[in-house]
Amino acid sequence: MDQNSQAVSKVTVPVILERKLRGEKITCLTACDYPTARLVDEAGIDMILVGDSLAQTVLGYDSTVPVTIEEMLHHLKAARRGIRRALLIADLPFGAYHVSDDQAVACSVRYLKEGGAEAVKLEGGEKRARLVRRLVEAGIPAMGHIGLTPQSIHTLGGYRVQGRTLEAAAELLADAEALEGAGAFAVVLEGIPRELAAVLTRRLRIPTIGIGAGPDCDGQVLVFHDLVGLSFQPRAKFVRSYADLEETLRQACAHFRNDVVEGCYPNDQESYHWPAALREEFEKEMTRPA
Ligand code: KIV
Repeated sequence: MDQNSQAVSKVTVPVILERKLRGEKITCLTACDYPTARLVDEAGIDMILVGDSLAQTVLGYDSTVPVTIEEMLHHLKAARRGIRRALLIADLPFGAYHVSDDQAVACSVRYLKEGGAEAVKLEGGEKRARLVRRLVEAGIPAMGHIGLTPQSIHTLGGYRVQGRTLEAAAELLADAEALEGAGAFAVVLEGIPRELAAVLTRRLRIPTIGIGAGPDCDGQVLVFHDLVGLSFQPRAKFVRSYADLEETLRQACAHFRNDVVEGCYPNDQESYHWPAALREEFEKEMTRPA
């Protein structure tokens, strides 16, 4: 998985579909810059999502709603440079597919041509099926996203678990089947009960990628900043943090500050030197009487 090794077995859409048939789990993480994408790729993660969660994790917005296509493209290009093996998927942000299907196709084409994306993701079920079909016909692989869809925060009234009643569950099943029927190659299930995610996973031929949807999905996705403890947010129930980077980075900055203030940084080994001969010559020069 080393960036310099010759043999990288590239993850493609057919590889992802094949995983479901073989019953092999699929891994996905978000990444939105070169170092993160490179680390995630080298760790052997199958799919890298330049998710619109970057609005909050790196741009400091208070939801995903404000992030623009240009901002997404900027991060997509940076992530692209760090990836050799993983399938690179980019999120269509709020507003990029709500005015017209033409607008969504145009944005997706830019993602593929300018940003190097290999697929796009969009939120919504049945009501996005027509657009998914259109994207697939244009040669743009599309991944759906249903359940808790953060771009609909103002409609949902908060980040709440979805599909808690039988009616809501039936709607989500119809959404998932509509996306599959339209040609989506996978569907993200976010913030739904484990039992419902298990049913959807059994009913669909395409892989389900869960986030807060329990262990029975075909794959799992997490936001990188949650995974490494760098999100400045109370941790959601489903998040497992594998590192505490907030604390590690805070301590590194504080140590640097102390070392500079106390005159311990940089030390002699961390300084450049003249060669001995030049130093002697300089010292002679400085001590010569005027
Ligand atoms: O934007 C994002 O990070 C996402 C994941 C939560 C799936 O959509």
